[in-house]
Amino acid sequence: MRLSGAEVIDGGAAARLTWEVGGTARFHALWLRDNALDAETRSPRNGQRLVTILDIPAAPVIADLAVTAHGALRVRFAPDGAGADGEAAGGKTVEFPAGWLHARRYDRPIDRRPGRVDEGVETFDAVLSGAVTRADFAEISADRGALAAWLAGVRRHGVAILAGVPREPGSVCRVAELFGYVRETNYGRLFEVRAEVNPTNLAYTNLGLQAHTDNPYRDPVPTLQLLMCLDNTVEGGESTVVDGFRIAERLRDESPDLFDALTTFPARFEYAGEAGVRLSSRRPVIELAPDGRLQAVRFNNRSAAAVTDVPFDDMPRYYASLRRFAEILEDPAMAVSFRLAPGELFIVDNTRVLHARTAFSGSGERWLQGCYADKDGLLSTLAAIEEDAA
Ligand code: FE2
Repeated sequence: MRLSGAEVIDGGAAARLTWEVGGTARFHALWLRDNALDAETRSPRNGQRLVTILDIPAAPVIADLAVTAHGALRVRFAPDGAGADGEAAGGKTVEFPAGWLHARRYDRPIDRRPGRVDEGVETFDAVLSGAVTRADFAEISADRGALAAWLAGVRRHGVAILAGVPREPGSVCRVAELFGYVRETNYGRLFEVRAEVNPTNLAYTNLGLQAHTDNPYRDPVPTLQLLMCLDNTVEGGESTVVDGFRIAERLRDESPDLFDALTTFPARFEYAGEAGVRLSSRRPVIELAPDGRLQAVRFNNRSAAAVTDVPFDDMPRYYASLRRFAEILEDPAMAVSFRLAPGELFIVDNTRVLHARTAFSGSGERWLQGCYADKDGLLSTLAAIEEDAA
């Protein structure tokens, strides 16, 4: 990518650039100086910044701009403290590749609608049934490209299935180690999901479980959950996933007022089901980033605590929002269901996709093992493989 033009504007406080592919964007002198790519500003070894905000002038001035023979931008700054025309020699000169600037242009319309999702994220409903990203354990263990394709499914839809996982206790952790690290909790490095006589958690019974995100009483929550089937010969016990971001979108489109209640007021979650554990958190059911982007959904009837952060006059609207969220959640048009066979596993983005299971009965065995991991590690591994392949 090449630049076709560059001009100094605003008395040297900014630049206006034009690319050969079309498009124009302005950049502040301060931004350009702060993001200089030279060896004094950024370590050539690891790319980390060597200066602080206090090491750069508060109001740098562009003395001179040029498009190089390669179509890159060359910027000469006036010496610190000098104006554009009061400068003689010695201003810092830096270069920026045209494509680097194009990818980082900020002088463009920015979508600020609340409840939108990141680029590359696609919300889903029941239409995804049968089309959830699937892969085979042996294949993604041996082939980085296949691993990336599977991880990309998690990034896009927040859920993926893996088959052919060795039917041995602990295999679920080996899957997490393909892209990141197991996150250990009070439930252990991994946890057993099978009916127990005196369960410390309702997950360890044969009851059906309403769709939920796991462990909302932690802050931060585990951002990924993996559940692997070792045995499944019972009647029932199907797994279902629902996209919490799609629920949030529906709620927003139906009633901005109800959406607002779940994004504005903190809910409370707690777990105190075993000795020595008193976990609690205070976070909204639908969490937005400061710019309105959907950040996380937390929903779990078993660990919801009394809500005490909603003003008296707003409490009826808050409950109406929660009820509507749950109604949308129960809409069959939202659910993707599958039955895990032994040796199969599913992974969910626990900040987004809710999971459920139907009740089960019969004389058979249903034995799952689960573990938590974190999404930043998954996205990092995926980005690194994609960069290598580019
Ligand atoms: Fe769960």
